[in-house]
Amino acid sequence: MLQKFDPRNENILVHVNGQLVPRAEARVSVFDSSVQGGDAVWEGLRVYKGGIFCLDRHLNRLFESAHALAFQNVPDRETIVNAIRETLRANYMDDEVHIRLTLTRGEKITSGMDPRLNTRGCSLIVLAEWKPLVYDNEYGIRVITSSVRRNGPQFLDSKIHHNNLLNNILAKIQANVAGVDAAIMLDANGFVAELNDTNLFMVKDGTVLTPPADVCLAGITRGIVIELCKQHGIPIVERNLSLTEFYNADEVFATGTMGELTPVREIDGRPVKYVCGEFTARISKHFRAFIPANCISILP
Ligand SMILES: Cc1ncc(COP(=O)(O)O)c(C=O)c1O
Repeated sequence: MLQKFDPRNENILVHVNGQLVPRAEARVSVFDSSVQGGDAVWEGLRVYKGGIFCLDRHLNRLFESAHALAFQNVPDRETIVNAIRETLRANYMDDEVHIRLTLTRGEKITSGMDPRLNTRGCSLIVLAEWKPLVYDNEYGIRVITSSVRRNGPQFLDSKIHHNNLLNNILAKIQANVAGVDAAIMLDANGFVAELNDTNLFMVKDGTVLTPPADVCLAGITRGIVIELCKQHGIPIVERNLSLTEFYNADEVFATGTMGELTPVREIDGRPVKYVCGEFTARISKHFRAFIPANCISILP
């Protein structure tokens, strides 16, 4: 699946460090930490019918990531929420919108790794684009297993939602070369962690299973799916899962803000038994029903 340019995004306004500027003029300094060292954290959010979905959960993860990286002078919650709302309103955006929210350690006085060179506080970027769900959630996606491992806490803790995405990008390149949509990344022990851009679930004999969030990103959508299973009496287990278990699953689906719940139809050339089977369909329905009550209005 290759995302296409949406002409509605041609003249969008982007919020960069407190200013709304046209897309073509939106930029950070070459001294910014994101340019220098990928030293930034980010969130992907979605807007549904005039509301920002799970805004608090996303901001909590952003603040925790920034705190773990010891960012200084982080803008407060109100400033970030206002920046998001201003951006959406300036672009007349209220549905089918994806927001890439980036917080960098900020501009450095000279190039270098040392965070003490950051004397100007963080840089905040709110990039909102028209972007319907990126995957075809009826047909599903094909995936392969990547040889690139997902970082665990022994290297770079996946609890930090950071911009050092090269492992994931290398895995995605392998998927592209193989002509499929995404790549499974394993943990250091060879258990399934997640896809390069989304979390993974499987269903076997009436139980939904997903890898523990030790190595994978603790995805917001993943967390909601777990909550919804518990709430609706669907057995859900978090444990280490091998590729063989995924090959022999009854159903497999991926979760993420970009695409909600997306069925996986093939893994390493093995067809998954049921594509968008009973459980995937049921949980997707619960997820759709969960959305309206968990959106915060884009109006102040
Ligand atoms: C590697 C990875 N896994 C999973 C996800 C899905 O997370 P969420 O449900 O919070 O969008 C993302 C989204 O940023 C991601 O980058």
